[in-house]
Amino acid sequence: MSRFEQGIIVIGGGTMGRGIAQFFLQSAYPVTLVDLNKDILVQAEEDITKRLNRLEEKGRLEQGQAEQLLQHLRCSTEVEGHHGCLIIEAIVEDMAVKQKLFKQLSAAYPEDTCFASNTSSLSITELGSVVRQPERVLGMHFFNPAPLMPLVEVIKGLDTSEPLVTEIVDLLKALGKSPVVVEDTPGFIVNRVARPFYNEGLKIVSEKTANIDQMDRIMKAAGFKMGPFELQDLIGIDINFATTSSLYRAYHQEPRFRPSPLQEMMVKSKRLGRKTGKGFYNYETE
Ligand code: NAI
Repeated sequence: MSRFEQGIIVIGGGTMGRGIAQFFLQSAYPVTLVDLNKDILVQAEEDITKRLNRLEEKGRLEQGQAEQLLQHLRCSTEVEGHHGCLIIEAIVEDMAVKQKLFKQLSAAYPEDTCFASNTSSLSITELGSVVRQPERVLGMHFFNPAPLMPLVEVIKGLDTSEPLVTEIVDLLKALGKSPVVVEDTPGFIVNRVARPFYNEGLKIVSEKTANIDQMDRIMKAAGFKMGPFELQDLIGIDINFATTSSLYRAYHQEPRFRPSPLQEMMVKSKRLGRKTGKGFYNYETE
């Protein structure tokens, strides 16, 4: 039995946290989902319930299995005092906020607890520097939607222990994911490669060379599953903007990663995509 079967603690009940929680629940792991915001937790639980029920209706789960799995989900607004030796953080993409949480976790949980971050771009080494024994800190970068997307980047900080990396890779493989071990560089692999996909799209639309709908249709006709604007709405425009800004800073104002004023305006006007009902497209009637 893997030591992680005791339970997984997921911190952050937003887009990614609830997806990661659902993934481990579906794999029959007990999960505690933590968010400071009680309303978010209520929404997250409703969302997970709806998605598991839908899988049951489609025959992908057995009759009654959704209800059974949901009995292993606990939701809490408290960060401390939960059972499990793997904590996966999926809170706001901000180093100072994440480090504050990791400091608290390091003081509150026993020394054999592993800390993973779902960060899109921030340094695992820097994050781990506030933790007692930083060798137990690594990145577990799931993709959206987490229960469906097979790829998980496993990020090795300078201090991360090799046996822990192997343990996490084996865990993910056993649960049907395709983990890839990556070095601790800004944006790792996928988010670095993906920046021009969003940034050029934003530039083209800002210059009025094509509109949003045309851009998405063209990229899909070229074989992409989603266009850059639909995808930003799914990810969360704020999260996408934070990731681009983080790469821009980390690469010392490298022009390729310069964030788009159009994207910044969307964030400042709270048009964040699906999660706020409005982004590059409107979802208010859904
Ligand atoms: P989100 O904005 O949907 O959710 C973040 C949640 O964290 C919010 O519900 C907020 O209340 C909660 N939170 C903030 N501070 C907290 C704290 N100290 N303790 C407990 N809860 C706290 O964000 P999302 O999209 O889920 O992103 C989370 C992380 O995952 C970020 O680091 C992001 O870069 C990364 N990520 C996001 C992807 C996406 O497609 N949205 C894909 C892969 C990674």
